[in-house]
Amino acid sequence: MSTNQLDKKSQAWSALFSEPMSELVKRYTASVFFDKRLWKADIQGSLAHAEMLQVQGLISAADFAAIQKGMTQITDEIASGQFEWKLDLEDVHLNIEARLTQLVGDAGKRLHTGRSRNDQVATDVRLWLRGEVDEIGVLLTELQKALVDVAEQNADVILPGFTHLQVAQPVAFGHHLLAYVEMFARDAERMVDLRRRINRLPLGSAALAGTSYPLDRERVARTLGFEGVSQNSLDAVSDRDFAIEFTAAASLLMVHVSRLSEELILWMSQSFGFIDLADRFCTGSSIMPQKKNPDVPELARGKTGRVVGHLMGLITLMKGQPLAYNKDNQEDKEPLFDTVDTLKDTLRIFAEMAAGITVKPEAMERAARKGYATATDLADYLVKKGLPFRDAHEVVAHAVKDAIAAGVDLSELPLDKLKAYNPAIEQDVYEVLSLRGSLNARNLLGGTAPAQVRAQVARHRARLA
Ligand code: ARG
Repeated sequence: MSTNQLDKKSQAWSALFSEPMSELVKRYTASVFFDKRLWKADIQGSLAHAEMLQVQGLISAADFAAIQKGMTQITDEIASGQFEWKLDLEDVHLNIEARLTQLVGDAGKRLHTGRSRNDQVATDVRLWLRGEVDEIGVLLTELQKALVDVAEQNADVILPGFTHLQVAQPVAFGHHLLAYVEMFARDAERMVDLRRRINRLPLGSAALAGTSYPLDRERVARTLGFEGVSQNSLDAVSDRDFAIEFTAAASLLMVHVSRLSEELILWMSQSFGFIDLADRFCTGSSIMPQKKNPDVPELARGKTGRVVGHLMGLITLMKGQPLAYNKDNQEDKEPLFDTVDTLKDTLRIFAEMAAGITVKPEAMERAARKGYATATDLADYLVKKGLPFRDAHEVVAHAVKDAIAAGVDLSELPLDKLKAYNPAIEQDVYEVLSLRGSLNARNLLGGTAPAQVRAQVARHRARLA
């Protein structure tokens, strides 16, 4: 076997084969043009494996030094775009190994001792995803901070709260935004939790059954910063639960982004007119000169479908697979890569967009004045005067019906008219019927009173610091 055999022959395993692969099959089975993205993790994993092989006396110190030297050069070549990726070499692993062997000879050929691409790729994907999850965590914090800032500035701004998209009760705009901060906080928690299950080392499982070499798996785990080693080789090479979990968490995160997007789109419409988004997040129309379209939230809403699609793809990928590794698993990468890219871009752009939002408090308050948003407050007022809640509800329904017929708000009915519904109603009712009074009254944990919004802002700031 010549040093460059892996590079020269068409496939790494071809001694057994009597005919070459067709170009179509090569293209169909190769993954290098997408999995080359794992190159850093692949080299990192190989170096940790090689170091352990040397400590265990399975390769010499000279071999390990040669491997290190070769990998340094390969790193430079890839980072500078000089590295020649070859379709014939199928995937990132064989491309790097072939180049290593070309550079350092037999030492390169010893690297794969006690290892298979099956445990290698599982290790690479875990290493790579762990890093991405950490970056996503940072981006989630940034987005939450941006939303908390806008929430604080708008702790006193009133807009109608909706149920069924019908005006329900007045809420603070800050309170509304903090609802999304709660969602993103849970998303961040989920990322931290699933990271623990990403962070286990498959290396040492070899192809499927483990290996006969005395590998020190714990040592490799320590070198690579894994929290533990996998406990069953069959499971380790075939498990993609971590990828599914991640994509599920990503899907839920995108659903939150999508709900926020839907609101931004509605709020920016002429019918609502609650907010404006900075021009740089919008586009115009090629035919209608007056248009400014909220493209970014619309696309985020659309891309949510794409990420949820990746979750469906990954979970379906696994459903019929027998143990252990199957080539199906190669199909885990593109959905995972695209999920990460979509998520990171979306989080970045939303943090920026949130910071640049223009709030229109008058329009919000005007809308809250429509739709009898303080009717519940009048019922609560009567309850405090001794009426059972169900009776109070009935009384107020009559008042609202009459007010609708007269085309006025409850607060515009004179006191003698209001007293006709119930004699307990007095002058102080007008404070209760005001939007601000309604808001301030909800001063309990989790409520929309501006004092509560400020308390929550402080809690979030401490949490996100
Ligand atoms: N490119 C493969 C993947 O992504 C690497 C593992 C291949 N293993 C094998 N036995 N063919 O899954």
